[in-house]
Amino acid sequence: GAPVEVDISGIKPGEKLTVEWRGKPVWIVRRTPEQVAALKKNDSQLADPASERKAFPLPEYVDRETRSIKPEYLVVVGICSHLGCSPSDRFTAGPQPSLPDDWNGGFLCPCHGSTFDMAGRVFKSKPAPDNLEVPPHQYLSDAKLLIG
Ligand code: FES
Repeated sequence: GAPVEVDISGIKPGEKLTVEWRGKPVWIVRRTPEQVAALKKNDSQLADPASERKAFPLPEYVDRETRSIKPEYLVVVGICSHLGCSPSDRFTAGPQPSLPDDWNGGFLCPCHGSTFDMAGRVFKSKPAPDNLEVPPHQYLSDAKLLIG
């Protein structure tokens, strides 16, 4: 499939844009500074906090802590690594049904309850084995992202 060019200038902090790349949904989430700062708090609860598993190797130019090139923007394939459902947004921190008490924001898969943080990292003890895939991407300018 051809690379997809995306104008990201209209995404507000705390919002997500979905585009299609190779028939898959790719999410671009503009994270707030609070959401980025909260990522560290999740590490001990995650199955693969440093994305060391081989299922979806991180592109080498992506920072391991934030799983991004720019901490402000998370770019991930929106497909659950369990059986392929598309998780839904749970960006608000704090207690919510079906989520850990100390929830810092992320995604909940409606099919079997897997949860992912705001870097697309999967929580332990849930059926999904792996973090969400970070696709190859690069910034052409502040406003333009190229996926693929
Ligand atoms: Fe997501 Fe099963 S498909 S938890």
